[in-house]
Amino acid sequence: MNVIHEYLRGRSEAFVKLEEVRRLGWSNPHGDTHFQQQRKRADTATADERRLFFNMIGEEMQAATSAIRIQEEDLWSWMLVHAMTLPKQLGGHPLLISHGNRNPQVNVRFLDITKLGLEYGLRLEELEPDMSAEQPYPNLQCDLVFCDGQILRTNEAHRDPNREKHAATRLTCSQLILAMNRMKQGGTLIMLLHKAEAWNTLELLATFAEFSDLQVFKPFKKHATRSSFYLVARNVQPGFAAARLAVEKGKLSWRHASIGPGPSASPAENADSKEQEAVSRVLETFGEQFVQLLNPIWDIQRAAIERAPWFKASTIKSELST
Ligand SMILES: C[S@@+](CC[C@H](N)C(=O)[O-])C[C@H]1O[C@@H](n2cnc3c(N)ncnc32)[C@H](O)[C@@H]1O
Repeated sequence: MNVIHEYLRGRSEAFVKLEEVRRLGWSNPHGDTHFQQQRKRADTATADERRLFFNMIGEEMQAATSAIRIQEEDLWSWMLVHAMTLPKQLGGHPLLISHGNRNPQVNVRFLDITKLGLEYGLRLEELEPDMSAEQPYPNLQCDLVFCDGQILRTNEAHRDPNREKHAATRLTCSQLILAMNRMKQGGTLIMLLHKAEAWNTLELLATFAEFSDLQVFKPFKKHATRSSFYLVARNVQPGFAAARLAVEKGKLSWRHASIGPGPSASPAENADSKEQEAVSRVLETFGEQFVQLLNPIWDIQRAAIERAPWFKASTIKSELST
């Protein structure tokens, strides 16, 4: 039994309704074909299509949360951007913004952020051959940090198959640690997340609630049928004990997912029951806030699935056949 699902079924009508349309939608081939085509379109989108897409999400996010705060015309003249992303030869997305010599306000490091072992707490002698001791932009104090790294299909061939099942954890922990170690006190952090009801996501949201003002955002116009949404944390306090603990936990998870727990680690026995205890604790303290935060996100996804032509076509067809 999934404790989180059970908890939500008892308290969130939005979640129950979403589960129902997901069940209807996901069990039909129209949905599969639609999502296959959508994936193909995403992988082969032109620069103009990508620009339009990201601008739409950005504008909607700003309108809903004011978190990006690019309101004054002249802000761009003194703003500095420091970015990290995958190089093209590792399957990274093409960069849409001019940078470096062509635009000194935008610095970009092309690297695989999941491999910065020293940054994530490994000792030099523990680094594996594909890892790096670099710690990019070490002294930054950012006002606004975007963590919208996403596991890319185009990068799959370059990932270590032995670490594949931990790929999402490694990317999330990498972003969390890099971001929290480069945030200004009181700054804003925006992170792309998936499946709010998954334990990792719930835990991350509960963690941010301890040291920031937490909001969530899901665009109506793009990716609305997916489970993706954004954590928007304002007034982040990286100096709080809870924030420092979150970074240490992130380092431990990255270590386990990347090189294994090692011989001196405590045995994994009771890991399941320990996790269940943690789930119950988080639901007790954060469950109500979680439901209030996520209800609008689940409503947006459910309504978008119901509106989708592939969903309508499939339900009409199954109604006719019964
Ligand atoms: C959802 S897209 C972000 C789009 C971007 N914010 C924009 O507006 O164009 C996901 C990004 O994650 C990056 N990414 C995925 N895995 C990565 C990794 N291991 N290291 C660095 N960047 C990674 C990809 O290169 C891609 O640009």
